[in-house]
Amino acid sequence: MRLITCGLPYANGKAHIGHLRTYIPADVYVRYLRLMGEKVLFICGSDCHGTPIVVNAEKEGIEPRKLVDRYHEHFKKVFAAVGVEFDFFGRTDSDYHHEMTTNFVKRLIDNGYVYSKEIELAYCPNCKRFLPDRYVEGICPYCGAIARGDECDQGCGRYLEPGEIKEPRCKICGTKAEFRKQKHYFFKLTAFKDFLLDYLEKLKGTENALNYAKQWVRQELKDWCITRNLEWGVKFPGEDLVVYVWVDAPIGYISYTREACKEKGCDWEQIWIKGVRKEGEIRWANITHFIGLDIVYHHCIFWPAMLKAADFALPSAVVASGMVKVEGKTFSKSRGYVVWVEDDYLKAGFDPDYLRYYIVNYTSHQKDLNFSWKVFMDKVNNELIANLGNFIYRVLHFAWKNFGGDVWDLVNSDEVLDDQVVEAIEKARDEIVKALEEWEFKVASDAFMELASFGNNYFQSREPWELIKKDRGECAKVMANCLHLVKALVILSYPVLPFSMSKVADFIGLKDFSFDDVSKFEKVRVVKKPKLPFKKVEEEKIEEMERIMLERIRKAEEKEKASKSEYVTIDEFKKLDIRVGRIVKAEKIKKSRKLIRLEVDIGGEVRQIVAGIAETYEPEELVGKLVVVLTNMKPAKLMGVESQGMLLAADVDGKAVLLMPEREVPPGSKVR
Ligand code: MSP
Ligand code: ZN
Repeated sequence: MRLITCGLPYANGKAHIGHLRTYIPADVYVRYLRLMGEKVLFICGSDCHGTPIVVNAEKEGIEPRKLVDRYHEHFKKVFAAVGVEFDFFGRTDSDYHHEMTTNFVKRLIDNGYVYSKEIELAYCPNCKRFLPDRYVEGICPYCGAIARGDECDQGCGRYLEPGEIKEPRCKICGTKAEFRKQKHYFFKLTAFKDFLLDYLEKLKGTENALNYAKQWVRQELKDWCITRNLEWGVKFPGEDLVVYVWVDAPIGYISYTREACKEKGCDWEQIWIKGVRKEGEIRWANITHFIGLDIVYHHCIFWPAMLKAADFALPSAVVASGMVKVEGKTFSKSRGYVVWVEDDYLKAGFDPDYLRYYIVNYTSHQKDLNFSWKVFMDKVNNELIANLGNFIYRVLHFAWKNFGGDVWDLVNSDEVLDDQVVEAIEKARDEIVKALEEWEFKVASDAFMELASFGNNYFQSREPWELIKKDRGECAKVMANCLHLVKALVILSYPVLPFSMSKVADFIGLKDFSFDDVSKFEKVRVVKKPKLPFKKVEEEKIEEMERIMLERIRKAEEKEKASKSEYVTIDEFKKLDIRVGRIVKAEKIKKSRKLIRLEVDIGGEVRQIVAGIAETYEPEELVGKLVVVLTNMKPAKLMGVESQGMLLAADVDGKAVLLMPEREVPPGSKVR
């Protein structure tokens, strides 16, 4: 039994097109393997722990579990809708997962790879708590970018250990954090340097993942803090701490395998512990992890070291997809460069197969993928429909209309297939099998599209619509070849286009097919009135999708601006020159109900200031009083009198009550 996993989505927000970048190719891969006769277990599940979930739940004023419930169901629904069919989709907040994680961590401890150490951690004196991971924001010690507690997500991308971040602030209340000491537990990652170098040399997978990982191991490894001050998570044995989410999340692969095996009757220990073969220090398991490029460190460094330390078998391949861009810009939920799978794509009624095709066919799996609505329309209308859909429908429709779906009365079945048809099919199949060994989904999907082009050319050059008038038998032969091509195309493209190809399979009565059937001779018939396999994407619809996107980007920009102006930076505040002054003279301004002209000593200099305080104060009672003055206010004339500053006062129902120092201070003292 071969195990394929996908990175566990955080049950923290909705599914977006970035997620599908890894899930769809993984699903395509699994479907191919199954067509090639391999026994595969395909598992995934929600990643339910970690500070992003706790912070978001706190913001909404609900329990973390409530938030997790909501997004767990959402992901299940979306995966089903886009045809990503896991054998098991679990949760890390389940009892079975907690149990598996506790046992795993105990193995790490028993095997001597965990030690405790006092460390300095960010602590918020206002919220009175330690600030793990996303609870803290500050400066990356490596590159100086603004970073989260556990990751420099906007700068160098490094993983940050607790306590490493500079100038930490509490993410909840904005207070400057202090550093306080606390005992935490560490995993001896440094003990695995040589092992990892050896493992990464032999590990299969995409170059992007392997190269990054090797480089990181060569450069620097640090022991890894595996505990956090949180309530939500898997308890660390014997302490009031939980294990770091990146310890328990990958263990989810194991706990989900165990649960899946309960249903499917496989042996999880065979998969994860016994493995398939031993090579030096490495006991290999037949496991392939599909992930995005953003979590290579966790899967190629932390995870294999943990598995080795706990004496488990090791995954044989890590396949990392490139990241997603939207309309040419870096993917960003906060800036509006996002396509939500449910709200945007599915609700608009687009066929899930179109997105599957776009994702696998746009570019190589390792490269960044740009999603653009115009390109989407182009790929669907000009490739899927104009080429593949066109060929399939032309053939089925012609055979149905002219032969009632059955051409076999008129042909001698033994010698009907043209050599070039047989060769074209075999070439496509071989290319697909070879491409999949290297996770080149674009090459694989190009191969069936090329076969469709071949089919179109074949149909076009044989002119069956002319032949039918002259020689019905010859025409039937051509159509027998075309139907053979359709059957091959259905099987070869099914992993990418399961929804539409199931329908086409139904038109030709094809059931339970495998790769062996691709070139096998069968009398293919059209058994029911065929319909178009694809529906054209309309330009107006695409324009509407673009409008939605632009509107989202505009709103995000506005929000960004608004949030910026809510705060005053310390530098902006420092521009204000505020000082204590003593009123030396005060008189009412004639014809004004509110204004008083003052002369204020601000420390060796007397300023003329006009203040709207006549409703609250008599000029006589003001002389001699200490007040607070904004001295670098731009001078302005009020009722013809120049004011060279502003007194600070509390606004009490529109009446001014002056601010005064709490005790005697020399005029000119700066206010900060
Ligand atoms: N919870 C972690 C994974 C734990 S695995 C033990 C996580 N979750 S995630 O929701 O952020 O991402 C889930 C999967 O989708 C990951 O494999 C991640 O790499 C992938 N992607 C999420 N956003 C992505 C893009 N914008 N582009 C490509 N893949 C991305 O990471
Ligand atoms: Zn705080």
